Amino acid sequence: MKTKKRVVISADVRSPKAARVKRTPTVRTIKSAIVPVDRTTRSGNVRPRVEIGGAAVADLGAPVAVRPSLAEREALDRIDLSVELAPQRGLRLLNPIMVASGTFGYGVEYGEVVDVQRIGAICCKGTTLRPRAGNQPPRVTETPGGMLNSIGLQNPGVDAVIEKYGPVWQGWKVPVIVNVAGESIDDYVEVARRLDGVPGVAGIELNISCPNVGKGGLQFAIDRDAARAVTAAVRRATDLPLLVKLSPNVADVRPIAKAIEEAGADAITAINTLSGLAVSPDRTRAFLGNTYGGLSGPAIKPVALRIVYEVAQVVSIPIVAIGGVTNLGDVLDFFACGAIAVQVGTAIFADPELPVRLGEELRAECLRRGLASYGPLVGTALPKRAGASSAKGAEYRP
Ligand SMILES: Cc1cc2nc3c(=O)[nH]c(=O)nc-3n(C[C@H](O)[C@H](O)[C@H](O)COP(=O)(O)O)c2cc1C
Repeated sequence: MKTKKRVVISADVRSPKAARVKRTPTVRTIKSAIVPVDRTTRSGNVRPRVEIGGAAVADLGAPVAVRPSLAEREALDRIDLSVELAPQRGLRLLNPIMVASGTFGYGVEYGEVVDVQRIGAICCKGTTLRPRAGNQPPRVTETPGGMLNSIGLQNPGVDAVIEKYGPVWQGWKVPVIVNVAGESIDDYVEVARRLDGVPGVAGIELNISCPNVGKGGLQFAIDRDAARAVTAAVRRATDLPLLVKLSPNVADVRPIAKAIEEAGADAITAINTLSGLAVSPDRTRAFLGNTYGGLSGPAIKPVALRIVYEVAQVVSIPIVAIGGVTNLGDVLDFFACGAIAVQVGTAIFADPELPVRLGEELRAECLRRGLASYGPLVGTALPKRAGASSAKGAEYRP
């Protein structure tokens, strides 16, 4: 995405008082949502917390050239980026860089431009029991530092997904995790049942940011009991590795994360989009056909970091971080806050090869630091003892 120049009027043009004021148009440079990949990474002391691979590699601390020599290539290949997301059920990724649901289709769409087999795992588009046409257009708009979308879970339904993509996924090395959505617990359970045992389906990620019809449209994700109930019901319905995706649109995410862990999830993924709104150019209505949309991209990274940081202090199952990843520094930040894998989402629209490149950059970073795996980079920013929740208004404490 290119940097855009926009004319910004300094006073509110809708106010009659403001209309009398002489306005000076200023040209402000709006930074594109997606910045080019930052090839520099931060260094610093690290404190091991989660063991992911083997022991440290000796004498391999030199920076890695863009085109590594044969010796460097061999050293890079020895670094173990593998990670176990569901230790009890066997969901092993060859590297921790995944792609986020809704931003990579079903994987097949990107086959021409990306070597999909080099991605850690693919979370496919949200899948429902029956086909869904999605929301009224417009469905997406760019925002400073991100984008708003209200696709409305357009998908062909679980049976068509199994029939069309299952045989393809079965032949892939990259695990495919099916993102599941529904409006009732029965919906989620039925989709999980149909996916259970399907060759090529490596796991399920529950998108619980959906209206719960039984609870008057309240999202499963914002209600601890509803989150627990849907996770437990799906857990009973399938032996597939089960990831549950948190919504950021809550006051305190920790009890919800805890309930999801207690209900039997193998891992937590965080975060889904933040609820947002854009206004139509003539300012007579909301811009998106669905009024509200989900904000994603670099703008949400601090929120995602905060949630991963809070959740990592209260659960012991693996955490997969999502939200605004555009470069290796972002990946390392999420590791430092306790994530053991990350998903790349919005940034893929600008740079489809980013997830593969991030895997290689992480490998080079481990080599540069003399590490045999990235395990020692995980949890380094976490406090020794669980701190107060951000819901206590810590940032406004006098
Ligand atoms: C166009 C679009 C469609 C999405 N569809 C889904 C979806 O079907 N299911 C889901 O759980 N998340 C969906 N998401 C959310 C992403 O998976 C991810 O959680 C979010 O975009 C934050 O990551 P990012 O900032 O890297 O994009 C979608 C996001 C975008 C931008």
